[in-house]
Amino acid sequence: MEKEWGGPWTEKKLDAFEQYVTAYLTIMNKHPYWQTIYFDGFAGSGKRKVKKQSDPILFPISDEEQKVYRGAAERVIRMEPPYTFDYYYFVEESGARLKKLEDRLTDIPESKDKILVFRPKDCNEELISLAGALKSGKYASLVLLDPFGMQVNWEAIESLAGTRSDVWLLLPTAVIINRLLDRKGELKNLKRLESFFGLSEEEIRKEFYFQTGQTSFIDDMDEHIKKVVNPINKIASLYIKRLKTIWKFVSDPALKLNNRKGAPLFHFIFASNNKNAQKIANYIITNR
Ligand SMILES: C[S@@+](CC[C@H](N)C(=O)[O-])C[C@H]1O[C@@H](n2cnc3c(N)ncnc32)[C@H](O)[C@@H]1O
Repeated sequence: MEKEWGGPWTEKKLDAFEQYVTAYLTIMNKHPYWQTIYFDGFAGSGKRKVKKQSDPILFPISDEEQKVYRGAAERVIRMEPPYTFDYYYFVEESGARLKKLEDRLTDIPESKDKILVFRPKDCNEELISLAGALKSGKYASLVLLDPFGMQVNWEAIESLAGTRSDVWLLLPTAVIINRLLDRKGELKNLKRLESFFGLSEEEIRKEFYFQTGQTSFIDDMDEHIKKVVNPINKIASLYIKRLKTIWKFVSDPALKLNNRKGAPLFHFIFASNNKNAQKIANYIITNR
C-alpha cells in the first residue's frame, strides 16, 4: 500500500465535510429553537501531521503543502454568518497540539465573535458529556470524529442514542481494522476490536471468519479458519449496521477514501436521526 497521509483523500474528506456543514447550518438557521454545537473530537493542531518515512500510514509532506493545508477546524471557523454555530468545541488529547490549534484559530478574524472551547481530553469522555448536554433537548450538535485509528469506543457512540446529533466518522477500514483481523483468526487485539465494534469475540468471529472442510484430531484447527472475501467492505458494512442501531439514518454507501493508486484506506460515514440530513450526505457522497 502506498505510504501516505494527507494525499488527495484528505482533501476529499474535508471538502465533503465542509459541504455538509454549509447545508447543515442553512437548515438549522431556519430552526432557531436549537442551539448548535460544533464538536470536533480529534481536532489536531491545525497542521498536517508530519511523521517519519518509516510510519506505515503517514509520510512527510512539503512545506508548500503544509502552508495551504486547512484542517476541518479552520474551515469551520472561517465560515461567516449565517454559517455559524452557537458553540465550538475542540477536543484533542495532546495539550501541545490543542494549544497550537487555539493559537491558529484565535488568529483568524472570523473567530472573534464565536464561542470557542478547547478541551485537552480524551474524545470518548467528552462525547459522553456532550451526549448528556444534548439530552436536555435544547442543543443540536454536528460531530466530527476524525482520528487516525480506532480510538472511538462503542460506549461513547452509544451514549449519543436519541440525541439531535449528526455525525461524520472516519473509519480506518483498510489501514488499521483489516490488519487487526488476522488471516487465520489470531485476534491479538481482540479487546480493541470488541470495544470498537461493541461486539463480543463470538460476534466478531461470526462476521469475519468461517470454517472450511473437516478437522481431524491431528489437524490444526486454525488451518480450517478462513477470513471472509472482501473484508474491507465487510468492515464498512458492519460498522454501518452498528451505527444504524443508534441513529435512524446512516449513509450507505459511505464515502470511500483511496490512495493515489486506488487502494482503499478509510471510509467516511455519516449518521443522523434526520432523513433530510441523510439525503444531503448521500448526495455529497455520490457526487464526489
Ligand atoms: C487525524 S488527526 C486530526 C485531523 C484534523 N481533524 C484536521 O482536519 O486537521 C487526529 C488527532 O487526534 C488526536 N487524538 C488521538 N487520540 C485521541 C483521543 N482519544 N481523544 C482526543 N484526541 C485524540 C491526535 O493527537 C491527533 O492530533
